[in-house]
Amino acid sequence: MMHQDTLRQMLQGLALGETRYFEQVGSSNDLAAEWAGQGAPDRSLVIAGEQLSGRGRLARRWFSPPETSLAFSLILKPQPTPPSEHLLRYTGLGALAVCQALQVDYRLPASIKWPNDVLINGKKVCGVLLEAHWSGAELQALILGVGVNVGAGAVPPQQAVTYPATSLETELGQRLGRWQVLRQILLALTGWLARLPEPAFIQAWEQNLAFRGQQVQVTTAGQVLWHGRLLGLSPAGQLRLEMDGGEQVEIISGEIPSPVQPFSLRPVDSSGK
Ligand code: BTN
Repeated sequence: MMHQDTLRQMLQGLALGETRYFEQVGSSNDLAAEWAGQGAPDRSLVIAGEQLSGRGRLARRWFSPPETSLAFSLILKPQPTPPSEHLLRYTGLGALAVCQALQVDYRLPASIKWPNDVLINGKKVCGVLLEAHWSGAELQALILGVGVNVGAGAVPPQQAVTYPATSLETELGQRLGRWQVLRQILLALTGWLARLPEPAFIQAWEQNLAFRGQQVQVTTAGQVLWHGRLLGLSPAGQLRLEMDGGEQVEIISGEIPSPVQPFSLRPVDSSGK
């Protein structure tokens, strides 16, 4: 199969486990979880040519058409089970790797919408979905799913998204090979993987955050829970906000729905990116 061979070449020399390519899948995160349970080595990779039921965070759908979208899931089996406060770092890992690859290799002004979306010029170009599989208190595997809109065809129609979206090719004004983009992301990702416990990792994640110093709202399940100025990250990767009264809070999970127009109405439709 053409993609299989091309991929093997493209990923040569990277510190990965085994790699499997599938022309068409439901969700690459599901295949990766299944394979992880069947003994896939640490850092094994599932790459999808197309996903028919790609998933996003918060039960949203993720649009992954053939050719123009990049969709992959990395299986991580950290041992021993990392402390729970450490797991948040893995959610930042995918976003930081994509963000830096876009900045360094393509000179794109990428930033991270905490915790793990990548934006270019205020529009979403990549989403990350981290899923943990446990056996009691023991972590069996983390599945780090990453979806990138490489070509314009990967961007859903505007009325279907809950956040403005764009593609790499649109922002760059030139065509890109999606496997080349994959290689650059994995290079950055495997580099940070070894350095995940270091404060430098949190610093890099923080430095690349979008909306620093700006007023944002953070929602959970569609409810605005916090409203304040985005300060940065705590040493564990929680979002630090300064509330109107000057009080600081650290938020472990949530979403920044629309920092540019904090009070605009967002579509209730749950099918978008
Ligand atoms: C989000 O923005 O809410 C996260 C989107 C994550 C999409 C990726 S594509 C590869 C992997 N497989 C999935 O079904 N989802 C993730």
